[in-house]
Amino acid sequence: MAKYRIALMPGDGIGKDVMDAAQIVLDKIALDAEYVPADIGWEFWCKEGDPLPQRTIDTLKTCDCALFAAITSKPKEEAQAELAPELQGKGLVYRSPIVRMRQLFDLYVNLRPCKAFKGNPLNFRDDIDLVVFRENTQGLYAGVEFHPLPEEVRTALETHSPRMSAFEGVPSEDIALSCRIFTRQGCHRIVRRAFEYAKEHGYPTVTLVEKPNVIRETSGMMVREARQIAAEFPEIELWETNVDAMAMWLVKNPQNYGVLVSSNMFGDIISDLAAQLVGGLGFASSGNIGDDFAIFEPTHGSAPKYAGLYKVNPTAMLLAVKLMLDWLGEKETAQALEKAIADVIAEGKVRTYDLGGSNTTLEVAQAVAERL
Ligand code: NAI
Ligand code: MG
Repeated sequence: MAKYRIALMPGDGIGKDVMDAAQIVLDKIALDAEYVPADIGWEFWCKEGDPLPQRTIDTLKTCDCALFAAITSKPKEEAQAELAPELQGKGLVYRSPIVRMRQLFDLYVNLRPCKAFKGNPLNFRDDIDLVVFRENTQGLYAGVEFHPLPEEVRTALETHSPRMSAFEGVPSEDIALSCRIFTRQGCHRIVRRAFEYAKEHGYPTVTLVEKPNVIRETSGMMVREARQIAAEFPEIELWETNVDAMAMWLVKNPQNYGVLVSSNMFGDIISDLAAQLVGGLGFASSGNIGDDFAIFEPTHGSAPKYAGLYKVNPTAMLLAVKLMLDWLGEKETAQALEKAIADVIAEGKVRTYDLGGSNTTLEVAQAVAERL
């Protein structure tokens, strides 16, 4: 039996292109692993009414971790319209499979490293090395939302919050409510993972990105937990910034920051900003990590207009493979892969269109594999 069992979920569009690229590198690495293909994405929504079929969930449960590339998702009405005729009118509702997997497997860390590789013409600066820890299961993306506002909910809010008087007289059908729910445990574990990572990788600071002066209760809880945890890591400094200021500082002085930690929505926004500082979607990889399972992915989508053309940059996908190797404890192989990717970028000979080149997705993967 192989040492690892790893699910491969190419998904839709360029997901398939970049997964083929990953396969080239995985073949070269020759990890002692069994790779198990698993179905996910738009195709399965249209054909089966579920973009994350139960058989895929069952497969994931038998694996150590998974590599996921990208899926297509569309607004509610379009999703309904594209369902196979025999599935129409059955009350099926499209739900994002990646959000579902995060919740199902309690993958509470969204790890998003953003490092400027030498020679990348898309770098905003060459000395950026940021790692975002975004809480992945709670906050504004928890999915506790109402429209119209149910009367019981409205009454409860009016009873418990004097601020609700601002909405007096507004009909309930004209009120939409999305809840930002934090738990102390949820704040604790994301901040702790961020500090542990900073310690292991030698980052001198962890910056908490919230807004406690305005969103007092949720951001406030995160700040209290962060200060407590920081006390256990005297060698690492805790910096606290407001998310709006952070957007500005990340453009002004990104080189001053190391590990950033934030809640779900703020972390989502900040990590896209950070990714663009080091080349954008072609370079942005992420890990969705829980206590005993993890899914690694490039953060880009399925880019339908490039699907099957093997034009897009596979670097984000290959960096996701690197994150997976790190998480599995294959540190040397992970380092070697990152170095091979860095060398190909620095050399600048094999480049996809986003870097001004004309090489294919697979040629870039091949170049990386040759250096391994
Ligand atoms: P996208 O990330 O698919 O593509 C936007 C644009 O970025 C592309 O047209 C292309 O110009 C560029 N791009 C993306 N990946 C690239 C790469 N590897 N190399 C070079 N250039 C690259 O985002 P878009 O167009 O907003 O969404 C397309 C579909 O993907 C939608 O259905 C969306 O819902 C889905 N999506 C899925 C995600 C996921 O699977 N986690 C994340 C984001 C979007
Ligand atoms: Mg995002």
